[in-house]
Amino acid sequence: MIHLRGVRKTYPPSQTALHKVDLRVKEGDFLFLVGASGAGKSTLLKLLFGAQKSTDGEVIVGGRNLSKITNQKLAYFRREIGIVFQDYKLLTRRTVLDNVAFPLEIRGVHTSKRKELATSILDAVGLGDRVNAMPLTLSGGEQQRVAIARALITRPKLLLADEPTGNLDPAMSRVVLGLLLEAHKCGTTVIVATHNLPLIEDLNLRTLVLDRGKVIGDFDGPAGVA
Ligand SMILES: Nc1ncnc2c1ncn2[C@@H]1O[C@H](COP(=O)(O)OP(=O)(O)O)[C@@H](O)[C@H]1O
Ligand SMILES: [Mg+2]
Repeated sequence: MIHLRGVRKTYPPSQTALHKVDLRVKEGDFLFLVGASGAGKSTLLKLLFGAQKSTDGEVIVGGRNLSKITNQKLAYFRREIGIVFQDYKLLTRRTVLDNVAFPLEIRGVHTSKRKELATSILDAVGLGDRVNAMPLTLSGGEQQRVAIARALITRPKLLLADEPTGNLDPAMSRVVLGLLLEAHKCGTTVIVATHNLPLIEDLNLRTLVLDRGKVIGDFDGPAGVA
């Protein structure tokens, strides 16, 4: 599903964030991206959803070559991906329900169907009683669960998360990680950038280690990372 070949990313004028990265991720895989701040985790994710273009090399996601894609095709491509950020990026003037239903609104789904699907996914993330709340009245963990519900409502094949537990306490981090693992169980390919090693050390999942823009490890589990 994902194939990176000799990928380099240099931000102007000369900051090289990724050097010659090669990576393959199969459909249905779960992958953690770890590494110190500045290692290139966010840059790698940005290349995968086309928010940045590689300076060299090829980025192929779901059969599309993002190094060459036109802006119009990129907009359609992005609709197939769910993205979750550390700072949630919720629409603060819309209710929780409307935030989660928003991707369906863009796709022209009928109001009653939007409401039905959004209610059901909010139930699934444990927020069935907060549908009419405004995002900023929720805790961080609740806001992140809204963001995950919004990312998953279109049933994307690929879910990307950049430090999704960065603002959360350990208990809520586990709840949020649990939702990402559940999406993976349902068949979604999931890539999670994190520097929260204690959170992931008990999980036997593939872990890619970045150091100053280079892949220095690719483990079946996080053993040896910490
Ligand atoms: N928009 C940008 N312009 C210039 N340099 C950037 C930009 N984004 C990231 N960088 C640099 O690229 C490197 C990798 O950053 P990033 O991908 O954010 O790493 P991480 O997410 O692992 O902390 C850092 O040295 C950072 O300063
Ligand atoms: Mg980052």
